[in-house]
Amino acid sequence: MVESSSTQDGRAPQQLRIVDAGVILGIETSCDETAVAVLSGDKVLSSIIESQIEIHASFGGVVPELAARAHDHAILTAIRAALDEAGLSLDQLDAVAVTNGPGLPGALMVGVGSAQGLALGRHLPLYPVDHMEGHLFAAALEAPVDLPALVLLVSGGHTEMIRVDAPGSYRLIGRTKDDAAGEAFDKVARLLDLGYPGGPAIERVARDAPLPTISFPRGLRGEGLDFSFSGLKTAVMSFVRTHPEVGSVEIATAFQIAAIDSLVIKVDRALSLERYASVVLGGGVAANELLRTRIRQVAADHGVVGAIPAKRYCTDNGAMIAAAAAFHRASGDPGVIAIDADPGRTLIDPA
Ligand code: KG4
Ligand code: ZN
Repeated sequence: MVESSSTQDGRAPQQLRIVDAGVILGIETSCDETAVAVLSGDKVLSSIIESQIEIHASFGGVVPELAARAHDHAILTAIRAALDEAGLSLDQLDAVAVTNGPGLPGALMVGVGSAQGLALGRHLPLYPVDHMEGHLFAAALEAPVDLPALVLLVSGGHTEMIRVDAPGSYRLIGRTKDDAAGEAFDKVARLLDLGYPGGPAIERVARDAPLPTISFPRGLRGEGLDFSFSGLKTAVMSFVRTHPEVGSVEIATAFQIAAIDSLVIKVDRALSLERYASVVLGGGVAANELLRTRIRQVAADHGVVGAIPAKRYCTDNGAMIAAAAAFHRASGDPGVIAIDADPGRTLIDPA
């Protein structure tokens, strides 16, 4: 049974939950998904995700200019589809939320521009949302999360651990010193010619593969709570060069085991150092089955709850953006009229 310190002084334990702040349209265009959702109270009424995978696949990665154009092409249809699926009209919206960073500048500007136009035309308050705070709130879309929570955010651009003591109160306790976990998956998949995006491609080939006979290093294994993936990536590159006889499936499988273990080692250490009620996963890499299984296991080992969102809420989506905005709106933020895209936006400044 998880004890919460706040129960000891008679107060109810804190939770991260989706608060009722009316009907919010959430728009997300920071990378390669055009995503729009309608959140009403704590219910996701619709979540449209238009993936650009086919556009970028032949290039082996996201091409920023093509991403922006594809968002521009898809955004109005996605907004329309989200409203239709929710059974609502524009008149029934109370607010508009949009990711304004971090992300690709041109891609972000499409979402921001559409959200601004919609908010201005309908006299609606507008909420600029940090993409990573969106990933954090995704964990609460299905059930409230007990606090304090250890949140592992693992995406294509970020790898960080955050301590959440109360909604909106975040402390960065570890982050990557070089590549993000998703970036490592994408680069290794490209090296092995497995396709894009690399995470799902590697997971697919590794699923039915036998246990590999090779092993790759775990970054910064013995020290602290920061992550490193560049050594692992380099080890895979030099192995591929020196062992042409070893097949790509075995290398991909060994890479996945090492990459996921590198994450789990740090989560395990963080749980040993401080008391938490939950472990939360967020970001695209959180869709990885091996990571999900291992985090559930490590949470159970430490007697804390593993709050692992459905895969559709791990990768980029509009519902998480609306959910983060709902928190700010319910906390008294009146919203704004105009916003800028902020590609380098950071949720928490490193201490
Ligand atoms: O959060 P996300 O959808 O977009 C960003 O904010 O970056 O994360 C995308 C990243 C990509 O690097 C992708 O390869 C990785 O998440 N990813 C995965 C899986 N699904 C997506 N990595 C490992 N296993 C997966 N199943
Ligand atoms: Zn993301």
